[in-house]
Amino acid sequence: MTDATTRDPQQFQAAWDALQEHADATREVHMRDLFAADPERFERFSLRLGELLFDYSKNRITQETMDKLVALARAAKVPEMREAMFSGAKINVTEDRAVLHVALRNRSDEPIFVDGEDVMPGVRRVLERMRRFSEAVRKGRWTGFTGEAVTDIVNIGIGGSDLGPKMVTHALKPYAHPRLRVHYVSNVDGSDIAETLQKLRPETTLFLVASKTFTTQETMTNAETAKRWLLAAAGDEGAVAKHFVAMSTNQQAVAAFGIDPENMFEFSDWVGGRYSLWSAIGLSIALYLGMEHFEALLEGAFEVDTHFRTAPLERNIPVIMALLGVWYNNFFGAQTHAILPYDFYLEHFASYFQQGDMESNGKRVTREGHEVGVSTGPIIWGQPGTNGQHAFYQLIHQGTKLVPCDFLAAAQTHNPVGEHHPILLSNFFAQTEALMRGRTLAEARAEVAKTGSGGVDPELLAASKVFEGNRPTNSFLYRRLDPKTLGMLIALYEHKIFTQGVIWNINSFDQMGVELGKVLAKTILPELSGDAVVTSHDSSTNGLINAYKAWR
Ligand code: F6P
Repeated sequence: MTDATTRDPQQFQAAWDALQEHADATREVHMRDLFAADPERFERFSLRLGELLFDYSKNRITQETMDKLVALARAAKVPEMREAMFSGAKINVTEDRAVLHVALRNRSDEPIFVDGEDVMPGVRRVLERMRRFSEAVRKGRWTGFTGEAVTDIVNIGIGGSDLGPKMVTHALKPYAHPRLRVHYVSNVDGSDIAETLQKLRPETTLFLVASKTFTTQETMTNAETAKRWLLAAAGDEGAVAKHFVAMSTNQQAVAAFGIDPENMFEFSDWVGGRYSLWSAIGLSIALYLGMEHFEALLEGAFEVDTHFRTAPLERNIPVIMALLGVWYNNFFGAQTHAILPYDFYLEHFASYFQQGDMESNGKRVTREGHEVGVSTGPIIWGQPGTNGQHAFYQLIHQGTKLVPCDFLAAAQTHNPVGEHHPILLSNFFAQTEALMRGRTLAEARAEVAKTGSGGVDPELLAASKVFEGNRPTNSFLYRRLDPKTLGMLIALYEHKIFTQGVIWNINSFDQMGVELGKVLAKTILPELSGDAVVTSHDSSTNGLINAYKAWR
């Protein structure tokens, strides 16, 4: 990494303090008044990129806020760190690795060097292998041990080797091959694979073992179970080559499992697990949707990469998303951030970014290993509207916690059924309006006076019908959820996470926090067999283990 990425702590603190002062001075300002005072507010605080509109005008911001936030990004060296990432510098300092998911969707001729070697020829080679393999499967040329074509694809993987492909194949189901079904097995709970296998025929099932390390306990346990299930039907080890392929960085472990290295789709250690859907890990996407749609997804991401890399910070969508998140997280005490797609096909979008964001920015030490001293990554949660409206929106509207929200919707639906889509979108528009405007006591009183209070004290009823409003939202409106648009959306959130990590000065690309539990589970597993009473842990853990042993 060059010196250019090193921030000046005093300059950064000055930018931070200026924001703190500004937040204290403007805390009581209501968005209702900001909208009333400025008819151009939407134009001022919205941006378009291709067929995507990003409206951030319903935030507790003025031009001064945005100027101060951008100054913070500059003081944090966001542009310099961004360039370091794109140019292959080893910004993942604890693992001494480059961070180059952007290389996987680099659709230009530009080389990208890691340790003096251009990684692009390797990226293109794997894409070409994915194309050939997915065409063979989709056209029925790739057959199982009885000569039948594949009908079911089972991706076995967890975390980044599961959530991305699962989210994308679900989101783009309207583009799927009519003969193919896709399944995702991730949980080590045997019920996951048992429930999946009982729907399938071994003769027509293709397993994709997706694991960067090829050592992950959950994935390897599920893969072994799948192999036993296949061999019980095929009776011959030779069937493994026809029914198992691997996506991994670990060729040795893949071969040891019994998968022909010819059937391994490789990627490199500079692809982080939660950023890997663009790599060979996306093979289930290419199989189910076709390589042309997988490549359209890459195109969409590339468009956003170019925007992120070149647009001025003031007009840079992921940078603005990140800065607004920092504004609420660090200056308004918001602990969470909700992702609310008004799009049935984006059912897994929030859970995908739960890993993407929380595994990246759930960190407590700086890139130099010191206590970070400020609040870092928020809790990410959400589910599609309108279901959420009948579950947790009450708290977002009237609770005591500030929950900044992202709303996402397509102007065109893949399923134009009756009035469903206009009804869905009327809710999408109404929710952000209600969260922004709220309802004053005078308005609530007027409503109660009009409708009557049904014998309840009218003042009590009016008080309960007050909505404070001033609750921040971003809106993403896109023409249609097609592969390119989805690629754009995902890349926007990825770069938001990157930018926030830079501002908080944390390493967004390791995940040490998942290690300790894994290590302890390895110690406990052998203790679960036999009848000996376990005494090696604290009294709670001993008590739980011994109760399990008595009941199993
Ligand atoms: O949860 C930890 C983690 O390392 C994730 O980052 C990763 O996506 C997941 O486990 C799966 O890892 P692998 O692809 O190596 O099986």
